[in-house]
Amino acid sequence: MEFVNRDIVSIKDFTRPELEYIFEKAKEIEEKGYSRSTLKGKRVGLLFYEPSTRTRMSFDTAAQTLGADTIWFAGVEGTSVMKGETLKDTIETVANYVDVIVMRHPFDGSARWAADVTTKRAKQGLKKVPIVNGGDGKNEHPTQTMLDLYSVQKTQGGIDGLEVALVGDLKYGRTTHSLSYALSMFDTRIDYVAPEALQIPAHVVSFLKQKGIAQTKYSRIEDVIETADVIYMTRIQKERFPDENEYNKVKGVFRIDKSLLSRAKPTMRLMHPLPRVDEIAVDADDDQRSYYFQQAGNGVPVRATLLALIMGAVE
Ligand code: CP
Repeated sequence: MEFVNRDIVSIKDFTRPELEYIFEKAKEIEEKGYSRSTLKGKRVGLLFYEPSTRTRMSFDTAAQTLGADTIWFAGVEGTSVMKGETLKDTIETVANYVDVIVMRHPFDGSARWAADVTTKRAKQGLKKVPIVNGGDGKNEHPTQTMLDLYSVQKTQGGIDGLEVALVGDLKYGRTTHSLSYALSMFDTRIDYVAPEALQIPAHVVSFLKQKGIAQTKYSRIEDVIETADVIYMTRIQKERFPDENEYNKVKGVFRIDKSLLSRAKPTMRLMHPLPRVDEIAVDADDDQRSYYFQQAGNGVPVRATLLALIMGAVE
């Protein structure tokens, strides 16, 4: 298993044993604690072209807790992107300043593009600067999936044998694409609960079908509430709709409240990558099944592990 200098662009670039190794290391870091000497002298660049609270702040926390410095922008206002600088030129430049780049960008495939830029640099004899995809358009969000699966493993004692329901905007929700791919490495059943217009893309279904994963589409949460082991709610991604009228037709279509949640198994865990808008009622927050805030907390050990592995600070 080789993690040093590795780009984290798509969850499909990882194997099940590699994911399990990351979870094992994250658990270790949670139990034994963080050491500021781990990444002392390293610097992480956080390039966020789109809004973020959890991804940016948990990577920043993870880096600093292990002793690394961070430099960042959050939104392109105030950067030379406003003057027309291309992604390639920004990556070429920032790669001189840092050891790893974590980026979020609105374009599908932008992280792969950035990784190609730093790989080409390395071929010219410069240091390889790994690219970590913190979300590229509606495509993927692999480190979110790693913390999601870590959360599932932590709460359910394992991932095999589970029924996982993905609910909401499965078309534009990049977290559900990465999560579906990752679940296909395990023996799972997946329920896709979405309005027809926001159902999981055909290319995702096709990928999972080849792996023999049982996939069923539903249009109501009530169809899965009593059987699912994990319900993964997602926000309708308003900002990715080309036409606001289309958004208005589906907004608020799914909502879980305390009463609906009470019909789920006591061991079921309600997860959400967050932020939520109105798809989980606040009255559900204190239910024992609600796990989304702890899930966000799991971002720190998982992302600390990833930074340490790709910078060669742990084996
Ligand atoms: N889950 C997630 O990506 O959250 P942020 O958009 O706040 O980073």
